[in-house]
Amino acid sequence: MTSKVDDSAQGSRRAFLRGAAVAGATAALANKAVAQAAAPAKPDPLITDIQDWNRTLGPGVDAAPYGKPSPFEKHVVRRNVPWLTADAISSINFTPLHELDGVITPNGVCFERHHSGVAEIDPAKHRLMINGLVDKPLIFTMEDLKRMPGRINRPYFLECAANGGMEWRGAQLNGCQFTHGMIHNVWYTGIPLKTLLDEAGVKTNGKWIMPEGADSAAMTRSIPIEKAMKDCIVAWGMNGEALRAEQGYPLRIVVPGWEGNMWVKWLRRIEVGDQPWHHREETSKYTDLLADGRSRRFTWIMDAKSVVTNPSPQAPLRHKGPNVLTGLAWSGRGSIRRVDVSVDGGRNWQTARIDGPVSPLSLTRFYVDFDWDGRELLIQSRAMDDTGYVQPTKDELRKLRGTNSIYHNNGIQTWLVRGNGETENVEIS
Ligand code: MTE
Ligand code: CO
Repeated sequence: MTSKVDDSAQGSRRAFLRGAAVAGATAALANKAVAQAAAPAKPDPLITDIQDWNRTLGPGVDAAPYGKPSPFEKHVVRRNVPWLTADAISSINFTPLHELDGVITPNGVCFERHHSGVAEIDPAKHRLMINGLVDKPLIFTMEDLKRMPGRINRPYFLECAANGGMEWRGAQLNGCQFTHGMIHNVWYTGIPLKTLLDEAGVKTNGKWIMPEGADSAAMTRSIPIEKAMKDCIVAWGMNGEALRAEQGYPLRIVVPGWEGNMWVKWLRRIEVGDQPWHHREETSKYTDLLADGRSRRFTWIMDAKSVVTNPSPQAPLRHKGPNVLTGLAWSGRGSIRRVDVSVDGGRNWQTARIDGPVSPLSLTRFYVDFDWDGRELLIQSRAMDDTGYVQPTKDELRKLRGTNSIYHNNGIQTWLVRGNGETENVEIS
């Protein structure tokens, strides 16, 4: 399970390259018809001999009432960066993006971010209260919510505002799991928040809401009423089953396209007010400290971003010849319209093939089929969304925001693929 690359994520590695220094990396990707990837048939005992699993009975259906991945997939796990959080309770781990495909994140590997650990809540004892500037304060049980007309299902990404935060000052962590893995993409089942607010009757001076968590952090954030009414969901389901405890069982708020911190888990109360509350998570945290000492506040929307997940430091190129490059793109402002990929550090770009659903505020999967001749590559991807916004380079971002911030780093990522296929996190300056 532990590869060389996993170990290196625990230290700090930096590599800076001049764009011109990588010899011969100027060729565009050869996107021609893919040559034979399989070896010509010749005698192979794994095909000619009968194997153990071919002659003995396996376990029956009683072995796993709730299924688990094959034991051969043990490496597909969330990982953390030991120096990042001081303890296991105020903690964070990362989605293994390089091991996944398609656009949906399986429930068991959705990254987790807890400010005071996972609350264990009996759904029979859980309540959601709506109070504050409403005509009729309400308290819902889980059963009340689940039988309510108007239930919906939607796929959305959740990205922590701190995703990539460790990379603001330079390339540091070796693996897209660590540089980009504070994101997951899930189908949520729940009731539009608007339905609940309408039932309570928001007073005309009700301009903000404050969701509150039932964990001991009692997480709270201020959300403008327009967003609450537009597309927020009070959700109890993820990918067709109940929320995982780690993701806020039995109830969380879904705030599509906006920073993960606002998606309060273990949701117990929503207060309606006439102004923001200015709590910890929107003052000392989740504000972007600029070079001149001022801070950007209320930077809720996650701008367009992308990353090549394969090849990447944890998933090096293993073969010359036909290969598939793949990655993910997303935007908190709408849908992904196009993704371009470069293999020469951003000099030449080619438009990637998007496959699968392109859904607003949801992950989008892209591919480039290419032949690798063993040359060094400087791989980048650049997302564009349907507002016309184009993902910036890290230097462009730093020019605007300096290097103090840890939030909202959506700069273009560069992977250096060496001649032997090993891949590293680098920056071009
Ligand atoms: N809600 C509560 N109640 N407590 C928390 O610690 N963490 C927030 C948010 N909601 C948090 C919370 C942060 S910072 C993020 S990024 C997301 O939950 C993470 O959601 P996840 O654990 O499902 O990935
Ligand atoms: Co977060």
